[in-house]
This record gives sequence, structure tokens and C-alpha cells, in this order.
Amino acid sequence: MRALTVVPQHADTAALTDLPDLRPDDGELLVEGIAVGICGTDREIVQGRYGWPPPGHDRLVLGHESLGRVRHAPPGGDFTAGDLVVGVVRRPDPVPCGACARGEFDMCRNGRYTERGIKELPGYGSELWTVETDYAVRLDPKLERVGMLMEPASVVAKAWEQVDRVGARSWYEPRTALVTGAGPIGLLAALLGVQRGLDVHVLDLADDGPKPAAVSALGATYHSRPVAEVTDQLHPDVVIEATGVGRVVVDAMGGTAAYGIVCLTGVSPAGRTIPVDAGATNRELVLENDVVVGSVNANLRHYAVAADALAAADPDWLAGLITRRVPLGRFAEALTARPDDIKVVLTLD
Ligand code: BGC
Repeated sequence: MRALTVVPQHADTAALTDLPDLRPDDGELLVEGIAVGICGTDREIVQGRYGWPPPGHDRLVLGHESLGRVRHAPPGGDFTAGDLVVGVVRRPDPVPCGACARGEFDMCRNGRYTERGIKELPGYGSELWTVETDYAVRLDPKLERVGMLMEPASVVAKAWEQVDRVGARSWYEPRTALVTGAGPIGLLAALLGVQRGLDVHVLDLADDGPKPAAVSALGATYHSRPVAEVTDQLHPDVVIEATGVGRVVVDAMGGTAAYGIVCLTGVSPAGRTIPVDAGATNRELVLENDVVVGSVNANLRHYAVAADALAAADPDWLAGLITRRVPLGRFAEALTARPDDIKVVLTLD
């Protein structure tokens, strides 16, 4: 079977590799890959700036935003051949730490977690893959074209849960949410915000192309203006930050309403410095009881919320987020970002 593989920490090593066909272990599904979504993390791995191969191997099978169809399931279990499934990305650390021991591997405390397609476990970018039934999630069959959005949706479901839990410190009835960045994470964050009944605003640099249209189709408001201008107008109760751009992050922190919550989801490269008025930022956070919270990955609870959110969304709107579908044999095209991309997927079938 063919798989997209890389040598992590070495740039430009992405290649199609022929791997022996897989046999599922007890308690595992054998899955025919339909597609994998490509995200910034995959591109960082391809550029040699992130990622770790499985111990004893040079190459890592890429791909963590999975979608496939079960070919073989253990008899008598919850899955049957033909089910549409995604595989969960992270596995608990082997110790395990207290969080991993409680199923909250997204909050791993010792950093020894593993991740499919990212950290020490083969990814889902192959024609066939296996997954433990405990880490497989069944999707509504109507999500066949868009189910690879499930993993980014799970990341967003976790981010919204963090906002709720931080908000629960005191009386909390948020009305206005600002999402910075109209990539897949930002647009899915906007979708979940609208589903919660919030007045959602999305900010991005693009002033044409598919992003403004996707935001208006949700009933949210699109802005292509500096963050500080937008926050001065809106005073958002919540900001979901999905750019990872330093200036945007700092301006968002200084621009919320009192008791504002900024949830950071963007993984930025290190080494970019900007001037920050640390005194003003500190003063604002203290005097307003503001919170800035980082959020990464997702556990099974968040996958369940994401599955419901996607099932409740307009399938055509979701399909509109997928701006390119590239067959596995032309993987290099999928790995190169283009200005009008929202989500690029690699098709495996
Ligand atoms: C993935 C997460 C993962 C994170 C860090 C992101 O791209 O969506 O599941 O935890 O990278 O490796």
C-alpha cells in the first residue's frame, strides 16, 4: 500500500513509500483511507521543523486529520464494516501522568504523549490504516465528503470548552465573540460560536476569495481591518485566536471586554519578536479579571462534541471549506499552500 512519509527534522523528504499491507491487532479496526486534511503542522513537519518518527524508524507516515471507511472490525464490537470513521490523534503517555490516566491526554503533564502522524506514531496518510477501537470515532454517513474536518473541529470544541470552564469562575453570559484568522480552525470556531447563539465576528487579512463568503454564510460578520480597530468597536467577551501571529495575539489580549477570555490555538514558530507594552497588558488583565488560555489537541469528549457540531452544520457550507482535493500521487501540490486555500485534502481512495 502507498503512504505519504517524511524524515522528521529533515526538510523536503516527503515521498510516496510502498509499505507492507497492514493486519489489524486484536481490538483494532482495519480502515480504508478516504482522505487526510493537510494543516500547518504537516507543512512544518515537511519543512523539517517539527515531528518525530516512531522509535527505531527514520520515516514517519504523515497525516493526522483522518477519514476512512472500516474494512474489518472485531466481531461483536461497536463498529462494523462500512462505517465512516476518524482516528484520534493523541495517545496517553506511558507513565501515565494524572491527566492521561483520567483520559485527559490532551492535557498531558509530562510531554511523553504520542501523536499519530506527528510524534512517534504512524499517521493516517496511507491507503489502509489501523486504529484501536477505543480511539476511533464513528461519523454520520452524510459527512463522507467533509469528515476530515473532524480533527480540527475537535481542537475547536476543546477550545470552546476551555472558554466555558474559565468563564464558570463567575457570572458569565458572553454575547460577542471575535475569531482571529479565517483558516479551518478559525472558521470552525466561528461555526461553533454561531451554534452557541453568539454574535460572531471573524477577522482575517483576506479581503476577497472564499473566506468572507464562508463567514457571511454562517450569519457572522467578516472584518479585514487591524485587530485593535475591531476590538475597540466590539469589546468582545471571547476571542478565539487562530493566527498565532504575535501582534494579533497581543492586541487581542488588550482588546476584550472586562472578564474577557482569549483562547490561543495557533502554534507559532519561535524567534519572532515584537515590542510589547508589558505594563499596559498586565494592567488590563488584572483590572478586568481577563484570562488568556492556551489550548491544544482534544480528548474523546471533544471528538464527541465535534461530531455533533459537524452533523448539525450545513454539509454544503462544510464542503466549501475544502478548497482543493489532491490525489495522493500529486502530494507535493497539497503540501504547497496557495493564497486562496482554506483546507486542502489529500485523497487516498
Ligand atoms: C494537531 C493537534 C496536535 C498539535 C501538536 C496540531 O496540528 O491538530 O492534534 O496536538 O498539532 O502536535
